[in-house]
Amino acid sequence: MRNSHPGQPGADDTVQTMGMQYRRRSWAEPYKIKMVEPIRMTTRAQREKALAEAGYNTFLLRSDDVYIDLLTDSGTSAMSDWQWAGMMLGDEAYAGSKNFYHLEEVVRKHYTHKHVIPTHQGRGAEHLLSQIMIQAGDVVPGNMYFTTTRFHQEHAGAKFIDVIIDEAHDPSVIHPFKGNVDLAKLERVLEAHRGRVPYVCLAATVNMAGGQPVSMACARAVKELCGKYRVPVMSDATRAVENAWFIKQREEGYADTPVADILREFMSYTDGATMSGKKDPLVNIGGWLSVNDDAIAEKARNLVVVFEGLHTYGGMAGRDMEAMARGIVESVQDAHIRARIGQVEYLGELLQTWGVPIVQPVGGHAVYLDARRFYPGMAQTRFPAQTLAAELYLDAGVRAMERGIVSAGRNTETGDHFYPKLELVRLTIPRRVYTQAHIDVVAESVQAVFANPQRPAGLEMVYEPECLRFFQARFERL
Ligand code: F0G
Repeated sequence: MRNSHPGQPGADDTVQTMGMQYRRRSWAEPYKIKMVEPIRMTTRAQREKALAEAGYNTFLLRSDDVYIDLLTDSGTSAMSDWQWAGMMLGDEAYAGSKNFYHLEEVVRKHYTHKHVIPTHQGRGAEHLLSQIMIQAGDVVPGNMYFTTTRFHQEHAGAKFIDVIIDEAHDPSVIHPFKGNVDLAKLERVLEAHRGRVPYVCLAATVNMAGGQPVSMACARAVKELCGKYRVPVMSDATRAVENAWFIKQREEGYADTPVADILREFMSYTDGATMSGKKDPLVNIGGWLSVNDDAIAEKARNLVVVFEGLHTYGGMAGRDMEAMARGIVESVQDAHIRARIGQVEYLGELLQTWGVPIVQPVGGHAVYLDARRFYPGMAQTRFPAQTLAAELYLDAGVRAMERGIVSAGRNTETGDHFYPKLELVRLTIPRRVYTQAHIDVVAESVQAVFANPQRPAGLEMVYEPECLRFFQARFERL
C-alpha cells in the first residue's frame, strides 16, 4: 500500500516523536519530477459558466477550465526522459522507419504475437480487425462491451453478446477477477452460433466493469474452449499490464513472477490483440493490431494503407513509434506498475474509509463512483452519473467521466436506450502525472459532493449525436 492517510482509522501511523519506535514505512513513486505544467484553480462562478457552456458534458469542457483532470487515462500519461530522448531519434522515412522495427521487436517480445500492424490509436486497430474478420450477421462474444470496440463490431454487421460473469454487473460484490468470462455463457454462444462467431473478444482489464482484471486461469480456459470450436481469441490488450499486476497480487502461483512474464503468458493464450498505446504503453498517441495468423496479417497490411497509413507507420510519426517502444519497456517493470496501481488504490481506500460508494474492488486505472447510491431514487433517464460528474466539476474543478446510460447508447434494433445496471462516474488516474496531494484534493471533493444534502434533480439530454453519443451530447439541468 501507499502512504496511509492520517484520517484513516486503523492506519498504523505510529510515527512517534521522542525516540519511540518509528513504524510507518511508506514507499513512493520510482521517479522524480523534472518538468512541471502549471494548472489553474477556478472559482465556483467560473465553473458554473464553463459547465453550462459545455452542455453539462465534461467532454465538452476546455481543459484550461479544469483543475485536476481525471477524465481519462488515455493519452494523458507523462513520458520519461528516456522516451523524450527517443523522440529525437525519430526516423521520419515514409517507408521502413527504423522506429517501426524497434516497436515491432518490443511488441513481439512483450505481447508475443508474430505480426504487428501500427495504427493511430486503439480504435484504428478495432476498425481493421472488425472489417477483416466480421461478416454481416455474425456475433462477437466479449467480457462486457467497450464503447468503440462494440461500435466497430456493429458497424461491420455483428451483434455483440456479453459473456462476463454476473458479479461484474454488481458494484458491491467483491471478487478478485470480476472481469472473468463466464465459460458456460460463452459455450452457449459458441454452440448456438456455430460458424457465426469470427472471434471472441477478451478484454483485460475490463474498463466498463470498473477496470476489473481477468485471471490467468480464465484466459487459459477461454483459449481451450475456443480451441474446441476453432474460434480465435482476440484480446483488447489496452490495459493488459495492469491486468498482469492483479494476477501477481491475487492469483496463486504468481506472487514471485515478474509482471513482464505474467503478461507474456497471458498473451500466449490469445491469437491477436488490439492495443491503444495511449494507456499501458505510456504515450500520448498510438496503437497497433497484432496477430499470429499470416493471412489475417496480410489483410490487415492491405487495409491499413487505406485508413491509417503505410504498414510501417500506420498514422504515427517515427518519433511516436520510438516513444511507444520505449514506453512498453518501462510499462512492464514491476516498480512502475506497483506505483501506478498503488495510487489508484490509495484514492479508493480513502473514499471507502469515508463511506463513499465505489465499485469494489478498486480497478486498475480508475476509481468508479456508484452514482445510483449518490442519488438513490433518481430515474436512470435523468442521467445520475452524468449529473454526478457535473456536480464534481462544480465542487472543485475535478473532471471525471460518465460511464452509465449515456455511454451505453441505444440499441440499434429497437432504438431505445440500453439500460446498463452500472451507473458509474469514473475518476481515471493518468500515469505518472499527479501527486498524492492532488489525490487528497480529489477525495475530499468527492466526499463533499456525497455529503451535500442538496440533491440535484438530474439532467435532460437536449442534443444527441448518432454515434458514441457520450462524447458530444448536451444536457440541461432539470
Ligand atoms: N479499448 C479499451 C478498453 C479502451 O479503454 C479504449 C479507450 C479503447 C479500446 C480505444 O482506444 O481511445 O486509443 O481509440 N478508452 C479511453 C477511455 C477513450 O477513456 O477509457 P483509443
